[in-house]
Amino acid sequence: MKVSGKHYRTIWLKPDDSQVVQVIDQLALPHDFKVTNLVDVSDVCTAIKNMTVRGAGLIGASAAYGMYLAALHAPDRDFNNTLQLAAASLKATRPTAANLAWAVDRVLAAMNTGLTSDEKRSLAKATAVAIADEDAEYCQRLGEHGKALIAAIANTKPGETVNILTHCNAGWLAFVDFGSATAPIYAAHDAGIPVHVWVDETRPRNQGASLTAWELGQHGVPHTLIADNAGGHLMQHGMVDMVITGTDRVTRCGDVANKIGTYLKALAARDNDIPMYVALPSSTFDFTLTDGVAGIPIEERGAEEVRFMTGKNSCGAVESVQICPDSTPARNWGFDVTPARLITKLICERGVCDANETAIAALFPKETSHDHATR
Ligand code: MRU
Repeated sequence: MKVSGKHYRTIWLKPDDSQVVQVIDQLALPHDFKVTNLVDVSDVCTAIKNMTVRGAGLIGASAAYGMYLAALHAPDRDFNNTLQLAAASLKATRPTAANLAWAVDRVLAAMNTGLTSDEKRSLAKATAVAIADEDAEYCQRLGEHGKALIAAIANTKPGETVNILTHCNAGWLAFVDFGSATAPIYAAHDAGIPVHVWVDETRPRNQGASLTAWELGQHGVPHTLIADNAGGHLMQHGMVDMVITGTDRVTRCGDVANKIGTYLKALAARDNDIPMYVALPSSTFDFTLTDGVAGIPIEERGAEEVRFMTGKNSCGAVESVQICPDSTPARNWGFDVTPARLITKLICERGVCDANETAIAALFPKETSHDHATR
């Protein structure tokens, strides 16, 4: 992804000092583009918790680099214990995205094959780099599969624009590159297919308004910001051809956890016969779970995110304002679960499949086998 013409990933090792991890600071966007240094595992835990980095794929890649930083600083005499504590701290940062535990466990498993602490440190670094590279590659691949779906709709309305609605930010910023929901959109746009994106603002943290709108703008993709509640109206009036969202965790039966409000979009899409696609790299599957509503842990965040809004004031300064009476209580669930029956197809790096156990198992036979599906 390019920012002002320069290619960036969302996370990388500092070029002249590979003991430092650098990330794009998503708390500063869209008003400021800043790169932040992370030097130890506690920096990574804080960055995931306070959402300097966020989005399923990037949370996974950050956690993997966090394990590398933990290995780098762990004393030889207490190496394994220190790494177990680091793994537990990272896993406790955010509960919903499957990529987090998946990445931590993958680095731990790789380190277990090393004999000395130094060998384990090298394995941690190589695995973190591999996870980040794979995340980018898989998102690019699923983008090609999704592009074919957009092209099919474009063919039904020659000369017209394909209107896509998305929720939250499952974009380049939520992964290492390309994004999940946005990868098909970028691929279609780059191939000359006329696309336009309806961007849900995505209260309470407004990742649609601050992040998706920003990155679509950087890439030159036509888009329009809408209030979260507008989608159903647009669908009723033929203004949406398809919905594409990302996801933070998908069960082996195809239930999808995504940013709060996704379920309502899926209901409106079904009522209006509009296809609802969910894009994900395989690291977002939780093959141990069947029932998403019962089994997927839903993060509940602080009430202040609902009671306050942050933005730029007329003087250009970023500030937070309270939008309710002083004493109004609030609750803040970060995600909801869309049952598989409301999802038209899942778009993965291996291809497009129905959201059901048989179709998912056909695409991921080894991963869904009972011996393998443990987390
Ligand atoms: O709370 P966030 O911003 O980390 O939530 C993640 C999301 O942006 C969405 O749920 C997204 O659509 C899926 S993550 C690729």
